[in-house]
Amino acid sequence: MARQPKNQHVCQQCGFQSLKWLGRCPGCGQWNTLVEETRERQRATSSREPMPPTEPQPIDGIISEESPRLSSTIQELDRVLGGGVTSGSVVMISGDPGIGKSTLLLQALHGFAFTERPILYVSGEESVLQVKMRSQRLGLSSSHLFVAAESALENILQLTDQLNPSVLAVDSIQTVYTTQLESAPGSVSQVRHCADRIMQEGKKTGRPTFLVGHVTKEGTIAGPRVLEHMVDTVLYFEGDRGHAYRILRTTKNRFGSTNEIGVFEMKDTGLHEVRNPSELFLAERPVDTTGSAVTAAIEGTRPILVEIQALASPSSLAVPRRTSTGVDHNRLALLVAVLEKKVGLSLLHQDIFVNVAGGVRIDEPAVDLAIASVVASSVLDKPVDPQNILLGEIGLTGEVRAVGRTEARVKEAAKMGFRRCVLPQSNVERLQRVVDLDLVGVRSLSEVLSVLFE
Ligand code: TYD
Ligand code: MG
Repeated sequence: MARQPKNQHVCQQCGFQSLKWLGRCPGCGQWNTLVEETRERQRATSSREPMPPTEPQPIDGIISEESPRLSSTIQELDRVLGGGVTSGSVVMISGDPGIGKSTLLLQALHGFAFTERPILYVSGEESVLQVKMRSQRLGLSSSHLFVAAESALENILQLTDQLNPSVLAVDSIQTVYTTQLESAPGSVSQVRHCADRIMQEGKKTGRPTFLVGHVTKEGTIAGPRVLEHMVDTVLYFEGDRGHAYRILRTTKNRFGSTNEIGVFEMKDTGLHEVRNPSELFLAERPVDTTGSAVTAAIEGTRPILVEIQALASPSSLAVPRRTSTGVDHNRLALLVAVLEKKVGLSLLHQDIFVNVAGGVRIDEPAVDLAIASVVASSVLDKPVDPQNILLGEIGLTGEVRAVGRTEARVKEAAKMGFRRCVLPQSNVERLQRVVDLDLVGVRSLSEVLSVLFE
C-alpha cells in the first residue's frame, strides 16, 4: 500500500486541505492562506466516542421544555444572549485585542458565581496573578470562581472533570493545544480539534461554555471560519479604542435574536452597563451646526437615538468621493442620486462624507430621511433644528415610505426631550397621539427639505 504523505497544507481561513501548496484557496478564494501543517499523529477524530444511534421521533411527540437560562447579572450581556446563557450552549466572544473581552468575561463569571457553584476560568494568556490583579481592579472577588493558567487541552479537560464547574470559560481558544497534533497552537487543526473537544464536554454535561476567539486583520475570527459554524452563539465586542464605549453584538445565536446589542462603557473600574444608550450617543452633539441631525434606529428590541453627520466639500477629483462610516455605502450613493435627480441639488462636484456619531452601525432604511437631510443641510449650509428628530425610508422616486415600530421610536425621542418629529405621512395617520411631540407628516423628500430648511 502506498504510504500516506506526511504533510498537508491547510487554509487558515476555512480549513480547506490540500496536499500541495496553492496560492489561492479553492475553498474560500482567499490568497496566501494555506500553511503547511504536519499530519496528525493519530487521527484526531478518533478521540470522539461513537454515539449510540438515535431514533427519529414525530415532532408533535417531543416534549419541549424551556431550558433554564443562567443570568450573568449583567443585563446588557444577558439580553444579547437572549435572556441569559442556556445550559450546554457554547458562546464565542471575539473582538480586537485590548477591546475588553477578558474584562467582560471576568465580570460575567463573577456574576455566574452568585449561584454559589464552582466556575472555572482557564486563561492561556495571563497568569493567575494577572487575573487576580484584574479582578481586584474591578472590585470583584468570589470563593466560587476558580482560575487556572493552562493551555494544554488534556489538562483543561482533566481540570473540568475534577472541579465539575457550572460554567467554563477558556481565554482564548487560540492558545489551547493538544499533543495529539503536531501543528502549532493557533493553527486551524489545533483550534478546531480543541474547540470540538471542549464543546463535546460542554454538551455532554450541560455546562455553558465561553470561548474567547481572536480576530484577524480582516475582522473574522482568527483561524477557522468553521469555529463560527460550530458554536451556538457568536458575540462580537466592538468599539473604537479611542472611545470609552463598547458595543456587544451577536452575529449568530441559536437561542435568541441576532440583532440585539449591548452597550458598555470602559472605565477605570471595568465595563459599566449603559442602560440609556441614546443619552450616551447624543452627549457630544453639536447644536446649530450644519450637517447634523438625530434619528431613532431600532437595535434589537430597543430604539436608540443616534446622530448622523454629513460633510459636503468641493471636490478636486474627477469622480467625487462618497464615504460613509456606520451606514451602508450603497445606500448613501442611492440617496445622493435621489437628492440630485428628484430634488435638484447639485452634488456632482462635492465630496460627501457621512458618519454615524459614536461608532454605531445602522443597517435599517428608516434612517434614510436623516441621511438625505444632513447631506442637504451641509450642501445648503443650513442647520437642521436640533429639536427635530427625523424618521423615514426614501424610495427611488423620492417618496417617503413608512417605517416600522414608529411608536417606540417617537416615545424615545419624546423621552429625550425632542419637540418635533418629521416622519412619513402614512405613519402619522396610524400613530395615536400618545406622545407630547409635534408630528410633521411628509410624503416626499422635497417636502422634507422645505419643512426643514424654509
Ligand atoms: P482586556 O479585557 O484585557 O482586552 P482583551 O481581552 O479583549 O484583549 O482589556 C484590556 C484593556 O482594557 C486595556 O487596554 C485596559 C482597559 N481596561 C480599563 O480601561 N479598565 C479596566 O478596569 C480594565 C480591567 C481594563
Ligand atoms: Mg484578553
